[in-house]
Amino acid sequence: MHVLTWGCQMNVYDSERLTDVLAAAGWATAGSAAEADLVVLNTCHIRERAAEKLFSELGRLRKLKAVREAEGERMRLAVAGCVAQAEGKEILARAPYVDVVLGPQTYHRLPAMLARAEREGAVIDTEFPAEPKFDFLPETRAAAGGPVAFLAIQEGCDKFCSFCVVPYTRGAEQSRPAVAVLAEARALVGRGAREITLLGQNVNAWRGEAPEGGLWSLAQLLRALSQIPGLGRLRYTTSHPVDMDEGLIAAHREIPVLMPFLHLPVQSGSDRVLKQMGRRHRATDYLRIVRRLRAARPDIALSSDFIVGYPGESDADFAATLGLIREVGFAQAFSFKYSPRPGTPAARAPGQVPEAEKKARLAALQALLREQQRRFNAAMVGRWLPVLFAGSGRQPGQAVGRSPYLQPVHVAAPAGPQALLGRIREVRILAALPNSLAATLEPEEHTRA
Ligand code: 5AD
Ligand code: SF4
Repeated sequence: MHVLTWGCQMNVYDSERLTDVLAAAGWATAGSAAEADLVVLNTCHIRERAAEKLFSELGRLRKLKAVREAEGERMRLAVAGCVAQAEGKEILARAPYVDVVLGPQTYHRLPAMLARAEREGAVIDTEFPAEPKFDFLPETRAAAGGPVAFLAIQEGCDKFCSFCVVPYTRGAEQSRPAVAVLAEARALVGRGAREITLLGQNVNAWRGEAPEGGLWSLAQLLRALSQIPGLGRLRYTTSHPVDMDEGLIAAHREIPVLMPFLHLPVQSGSDRVLKQMGRRHRATDYLRIVRRLRAARPDIALSSDFIVGYPGESDADFAATLGLIREVGFAQAFSFKYSPRPGTPAARAPGQVPEAEKKARLAALQALLREQQRRFNAAMVGRWLPVLFAGSGRQPGQAVGRSPYLQPVHVAAPAGPQALLGRIREVRILAALPNSLAATLEPEEHTRA
């Protein structure tokens, strides 16, 4: 089998779990699609032209499949993920050589679906089963090894922002029980993870079954995870402002291994636009959360998502977004031109903003965000920062890791990058580059881990 992944960290995690499911059913990993007896495309629906990208990839695979069949061999094709969920029927109509189409909620059923496709022809399963898929997964295996690991604890979204497909493709909010999360975290640490990032579309909406019964909040889960020996760093992503409660804000003060970095999408700085988007918070709510986070953890670095050119967005609305950015000061951010997604309310909204206007606004917004990122990185020069090393750099003898603020940091590693792998070391920042920091290792006595 060969699994190709597009999209977010959740999809990367899902692909690893899909690989585990298939491995448990006896499928071996192939080095490339051309050699595989099964190719799975794990798709993403959030970016523009997602379906076109899928069909062009399928066209390429169809040729590989024909070559294999001419050689008397089989190649099965499965389309998984959010495009599969949203456009399952269309996929089978336009690409009848696909064997299985499955949504993000049903990938534990893939081996059974492949067997059924063998007997009955193409199978599609984009149900939202009542039983959470988390209950059906074998123990994590594919993610073994690295010092930086991801762990899905929550899935789905009940927020229904007017521009977004996620509630339709990923379904309702579901939280994994604490016992299962703690067990997987311990297993990951046992296999070398020093940092775990908890994943969920609305990760801070996590309300999971507690070990002794009742429910825990994310803050309580973080506290329990922070007790795992050998776990040096915790992160979580992506959060929604309405679920950023006082307990979670306090966790940033109280849990030393919880890293001072938060990705908290705001989308717009205009209350009028936020209301149209169905975001359930105003700009001032966001600013208040930021103030409280900074009171709890003064060095916390913030990241966000922005959409420009939402239907009806005026020059004044856009100016309010720039104002919010200036007021917060972001360490990094992602920004997008609004683009209509079929089936979402905003796609039918009046006042669609002309493309040229969206382009101009995006350029202005990104210039401001770039400048803030540059300033944030430049302020690190001369400081000592703990870095978790996770790999080797582009140049020989170079090791790369991440700062607490998620900045890539590279150093010359005299004993080779391998010697630093999985270690948290204090380094001195020498220079700030546009997207990374250059640093030097401190003498051994300052070593942390
Ligand atoms: N148009 C533009 N950006 C979008 N996003 C989600 N849907 C759309 C859309 N229709 C952005 C949001 C979200 C991020 C993951 O993608 O900013 O937070
Ligand atoms: Fe989409 Fe809004 Fe849910 Fe985020 S909170 S996944 S933007 S609907």
